[in-house]
Amino acid sequence: MSTLSEVIDYMQHHDRLQFFFTATLSVLLSLGGSHPAAAQATAYSDKPPVLLGAAWYPEQWPESQWDADLSRMEAAHIHLVRVGEFAWSTMEPSEGKYNFTWLDHAIELAGKHHICVVLGTPTAAPPAWMTTKYPDTLRVDENGVRDEHGNRQQFSFASVRYRKFAHEIAEKMAERYGHNPNVVGWQLDNEYASPSFDPEAKAQFHEWLKAKYGTIENLNSHWATAYWSQTYDNFDEIPVRDKGENPALLLAWKRFVSDTWKSYSENQISAIRPQADKRQFITTNTMGWFDGFDEYTVHSVLDIAAWDDYISTDTYDYFDNGARHDLTRGYKNKNFWVMETEPAFVNWRRVNTPLEKGQVRDMAWQAIGHGSDAVEYWQWRSALNGQEEYHGVLVGADGTPVPVYDEVKQTGEEFEKAGKALESTSPRSSVAIIHDYNSRWAIDFQRHNIEFDPVAELVAFYKPLRTQAQAVDIISPNAPLDSYKLVVAPALNVLPQEVADRLIAYVKQGGNLLLGPRSGMKDEYNALNVERQPGPLVDLLGGRVEQFYAIDKEVPVSGDLGSGTADVWAETLSTKSTDTHVLMKYGASNGWLDNQPAVITRKVGNGSITYIGAWLNDDLLAKLTAALLQQSGVQPIIPNTPDGVEVCLRTGANRSVLILINHNKAEARVDLPHAMRDLLASDNTSRTSVDLPGYGVAVLEGK
Ligand code: GAL
Repeated sequence: MSTLSEVIDYMQHHDRLQFFFTATLSVLLSLGGSHPAAAQATAYSDKPPVLLGAAWYPEQWPESQWDADLSRMEAAHIHLVRVGEFAWSTMEPSEGKYNFTWLDHAIELAGKHHICVVLGTPTAAPPAWMTTKYPDTLRVDENGVRDEHGNRQQFSFASVRYRKFAHEIAEKMAERYGHNPNVVGWQLDNEYASPSFDPEAKAQFHEWLKAKYGTIENLNSHWATAYWSQTYDNFDEIPVRDKGENPALLLAWKRFVSDTWKSYSENQISAIRPQADKRQFITTNTMGWFDGFDEYTVHSVLDIAAWDDYISTDTYDYFDNGARHDLTRGYKNKNFWVMETEPAFVNWRRVNTPLEKGQVRDMAWQAIGHGSDAVEYWQWRSALNGQEEYHGVLVGADGTPVPVYDEVKQTGEEFEKAGKALESTSPRSSVAIIHDYNSRWAIDFQRHNIEFDPVAELVAFYKPLRTQAQAVDIISPNAPLDSYKLVVAPALNVLPQEVADRLIAYVKQGGNLLLGPRSGMKDEYNALNVERQPGPLVDLLGGRVEQFYAIDKEVPVSGDLGSGTADVWAETLSTKSTDTHVLMKYGASNGWLDNQPAVITRKVGNGSITYIGAWLNDDLLAKLTAALLQQSGVQPIIPNTPDGVEVCLRTGANRSVLILINHNKAEARVDLPHAMRDLLASDNTSRTSVDLPGYGVAVLEGK
């Protein structure tokens, strides 16, 4: 079966469930088109392969209490602490006067408790002596107001002086700990976030523009500056803003910010790398969907990816959370670390409700299932003062366990049981979603419909794909595509010719490409593509977008796959080639949309290209993704799993580990394709089915 219409035919005449025919794990192990083995993030012969950890702040406590803290960690199977990332005033109490004795002791004592260390460079919290004496190190906000000392992250990422201080402290740390066998890696700074709009940053932006565009005439032409008399005579005239400006300028600013965070990282890497053993990785902790800069750019100079996993909605949405794991895995296309996660609750939401009992363990295993090799809780112990007194912890200010400690301890015990089997395994997928910062920014600058949130739109595609294929990679537009059977670009708004050429080659080589609404509208400078959407892919598609519409009422959509609705966005499509087929049409609505094509598809050799012009409702989109997965030959890992049970598979050279997570409060049963070893059961018993209690987890090894 190869064309989408044949698939539709088939699905109309068969029970949909038959589509999910039984796939065995042995078939999966030999997945023809799956992504090549992604490496484990880190591998230390003398440390557990999967690490449980916590953020520990010894500088906040008398040394006499450290041993008790570390003993309690060890008892919870915690073998990792992150230390130091806000301790600049303790490390360098006055300019050029360093004190690392306390850190020497902390690292050594941790080692005695079989706990290894990630060292944070303390640059997210500059000391008061510095910002007072050198106010030019402080960041300036978009309104031109310079920060005062206080809180944290008050530095300018572009300040040459600040970078000199950052280099010095990182170098001092690396000289001292670069060969320490108990230090496994480095976290640069903490959660890079806000750029600075100070005069130094502005001058650097102008230099950056000069290097990119060469001449001001070239810039004027790409930015179409005749519009509103924006024509520039020289680069220094260009304003620095992050909203309300020419979209070409706004996109250029974001790219400059990305490059500046990259060079900010390189500044510290150049201090650490020459002093550090190769086994010590260098990373920073990222923030999921945060789009202040392009993570792919910054990760080009980092060794591994790591992120801080705090649920992004009021309750745990495992699809959104899983997508953010997959996003992070895609920064380096290999396993990653969860550098921080919540021990039941945080302190910065409107209402800081806790995760339910059992969900902390559920989240930890979800991280492992999606390819993390470490899970660290923020934080170990409540600080006695400071802005985060109410945040969830594992032990209270008195150093004794709070209730969630036991759940974390159980998780740690399980990591130890399953660790060996998980070593050198990683998730593999034959489906990829393209995630593009340029497109997200471009849409956000001009949403046209305020409800068009590019992340929500991406997750709308992720949900059915993850449910149906049970493994999805989220990748940069520049990642290699040849190992995927299906590539989905939910809203690839900015489509440079070079990316388009790679997509065209992918389809011509037999790949299946699915484009979502707003794709291919802009060129790399954020100017409109004159061919209309999808720009450089119009010829391949044999059709195009005639007009886009923001909509605020549901519009009926139907076709051979079934019927449903579209909301938020609807484009009318047309076909030019006789072999481009209309798959779905709009029903009666505002007149403009009535009876017009909403989804078109074309087979190209053994491959295909499909364009969806609307934000379809979940059910209809799921029908479409199911048909495309079938056409692409993608099978689920375990067919017919109950709703709310997540299936994750990590594969290594000659084994696979299946992680089943019941995100439901009620129990659920999963039938396995063949007998597997239960790694969490004391006798490693063999099972052909698993009964998962509410929020239950099973970890099984296949042959
Ligand atoms: C993170 C941050 C930590 C801590 C935590 C609280 O964003 O990196 O230092 O503040 O939030 O949830």
